[in-house]
Amino acid sequence: MTTKVNRQWCLATRPVGAIAESNFEWKQELVPSLEEGQILVRNIYLSLDPTNRGWLNEGENYLPPVAIGEVMRGFGIGIVEQSRNTNFPEGTLVQGFLGWQDYAIADGTDLNQFQKDPFVPLTAYLGLFGFIGMTAYFGLLDIGKPKAGEMLVVSGAAGAVGSLVGQIGKIKGCRVIGIAGSEEKCHWLKDELGFDAAINYKTESVLESLQQHCPNGIDIYFENVGGEILDAVLSLINLRARIVLCGLISQYNATEPVPGPYNFINIVTQRAKLEGFIVLDYFDRAQEALADLGEWYAQGKIQYRVDVIDGLENAPSAINKLFDGTNQGKLIIKVSEE
Ligand SMILES: NC(=O)c1ccc[n+]([C@@H]2O[C@H](COP(=O)([O-])OP(=O)(O)OC[C@H]3O[C@@H](n4cnc5c(N)ncnc54)[C@H](OP(=O)(O)O)[C@@H]3O)[C@@H](O)[C@H]2O)c1
Repeated sequence: MTTKVNRQWCLATRPVGAIAESNFEWKQELVPSLEEGQILVRNIYLSLDPTNRGWLNEGENYLPPVAIGEVMRGFGIGIVEQSRNTNFPEGTLVQGFLGWQDYAIADGTDLNQFQKDPFVPLTAYLGLFGFIGMTAYFGLLDIGKPKAGEMLVVSGAAGAVGSLVGQIGKIKGCRVIGIAGSEEKCHWLKDELGFDAAINYKTESVLESLQQHCPNGIDIYFENVGGEILDAVLSLINLRARIVLCGLISQYNATEPVPGPYNFINIVTQRAKLEGFIVLDYFDRAQEALADLGEWYAQGKIQYRVDVIDGLENAPSAINKLFDGTNQGKLIIKVSEE
């Protein structure tokens, strides 16, 4: 046993609707001594993601549900503070499912070692240069297959993934329309990121605005939201349109079954392709994405923003920023000093 205290958020009850702090139990325990082959990782940044909500439900998902009593699963960045594993010397930076806690003990098999570029902030490895960048890159390029001159619409456009999708779309020569939930976000998309137009779905009719901005229809839709926004887009898709199903955040807190899209028939009549994906399946191709994203970033063609909340104790309340739209960029909890 060491003298280090590990603070942890463990799942106490499964949320019904929005996540509440009472769904978690705050535990503190002493960090045990390491066994041969193990490492002790001090968590530095914890990624809060819409998909965390799905892991709290019972039943089938792309990962097993977090069990009651278990430390909440979370992707993060940490540093090896003690090591009994020669592959992970002290001081190594690692990424992986480190959990909502101060320290993780691991054997290293599920952790990815990386080296920080001195010109890149560490938080970017949970955003542009992490799985968020890969989600935008592979989702748009592998599934959306954009061609110059095509019309790309992105929902959740000012979020971590959506903002990168739109910028990659511009790099590939598309006309890009973003859909987001505030005037500030819409201005950022148009004035800073170079989107051709942005629609505030909270104050405008999405269908009417899309009709105005997309007089020749929509070729690619990058879907982060679902619901009425998906239906509005479906009514305007072109022949051979591609719909990239990245996420459906509008239904993650739903307590009743959610109706399917009403305009689904247009997938048939327009011979469109609708394909979902999970970024974990692309991890073995990470270098492809990171090379391009790094080059575009160095050339000033791509920007991102991060929303960092200080303190592990704030994780259960902060995660709801993703669902009320108050996060401004990639939502991250700072667990300890870099
Ligand atoms: N398939 C994959 O492998 C993968 C990987 C990462 C993320 N994702 C998905 O990508 C999407 C975006 O994730 P992110 O990490 O980049 O989060 P994010 O976009 O940074 O944050 C979520 C945003 O969603 C919007 N939102 C929340 N509830 C909404 C609703 N009912 N209707 C419309 N918009 C709503 C809010 O923005 P507004 O202010 O605009 O409402 C909020 O800021 C999510 O659906 C997530 O599940 C998928």
